[in-house]
Amino acid sequence: MLKKIKILLGEVDLYNPLNEEDVELFRLKFLGKKGVINDLFNDFKLAPNETKKELGREINALKKKVKKKVETFKNTITKPKSSKKSDLSRPVYLSLSGSRHPISIIKNEILSIFNKVGFDTSEGPEIEDDWHNFSALNLPKEHPARDMQDTFFIQTNPDVLLRTHTSSVQVRHIEETPPPIRIVSPGRVYRNEAISARAHCIFHQIEGLYINEHVSFSDLKQMLIYFAKSMFGEEAKIRLRPSYFPFTEPSAEVDIYWGLKNEDDYRITKGTGWLEILGCGMVDPCVLDNCGINSKKYTGYAFGMGVERIAMLKYGLKDLRMFFENDIRFLKQFSCL
Ligand code: PHE
Repeated sequence: MLKKIKILLGEVDLYNPLNEEDVELFRLKFLGKKGVINDLFNDFKLAPNETKKELGREINALKKKVKKKVETFKNTITKPKSSKKSDLSRPVYLSLSGSRHPISIIKNEILSIFNKVGFDTSEGPEIEDDWHNFSALNLPKEHPARDMQDTFFIQTNPDVLLRTHTSSVQVRHIEETPPPIRIVSPGRVYRNEAISARAHCIFHQIEGLYINEHVSFSDLKQMLIYFAKSMFGEEAKIRLRPSYFPFTEPSAEVDIYWGLKNEDDYRITKGTGWLEILGCGMVDPCVLDNCGINSKKYTGYAFGMGVERIAMLKYGLKDLRMFFENDIRFLKQFSCL
């Protein structure tokens, strides 16, 4: 320890600061709370008793020397005359800026695809009541299809829940606005599912709705083709498979052609080459009536997709959990997008 103090004394002797900032750094290094002198006093406590006398003397000498040095330099160093003047030749330090989350990037991309063709964005609450999330959508209490969307209820009140889809926003919108209606509703949704590489209890949806006179299934199909080509490129191919949703009739699921080029493609498409991207259908007249719209005069189509799923396809990701972990190494890869 004595040797160490001697070296430090030498360092202090030779010290020659260039400016005020240097003096302050020097002061902090030695006299700061976590500085050298405090460290030495801590070590001193553990030193053998017979060495303490000499050690104490040396540490105090060092402290004195440092203080004196700081004082003299503080008085002698002249402040730069115009410290405010900028040095334009100085290299720039780029500050680290944040980046958009991949889910936001894809969400914005999907929204802008639909905004371009006249869909307004409409948002609603994440905590919903039974009516807007289920009953108005032709899913009365005890309807078996409620099981398709395992629900988180708030406390013990079965009427208050975390929305399981953003169709609830569409109900709110059509209750208040007369047709024609053309909206997309993005948002976070919740389902009581086991978390895995392909499912999560929180995810994001974008649902679309168009209600007007004479809206037909071919309008829906046209819109889906437009979406698939805008999102995945001109070459994108889709197919519609008959399906079931309580709020649409007829209903369909839409697959996009992914291809079967390698083993991974076989695995993720289960050997078919096709991957499901969304659900859709013609709005059930019953839903229109529930929301006060004359179903004899108006028809409509609706569709809904998971943003995570589209993002996984677009970025070639295999595990959806990455979107929720906020690992900076993962998120940084999207910083230039
Ligand atoms: N709301 C459905 C779901 O979350 C998706 C959907 C929307 C299907 C609109 C058809 C029409 O699964």
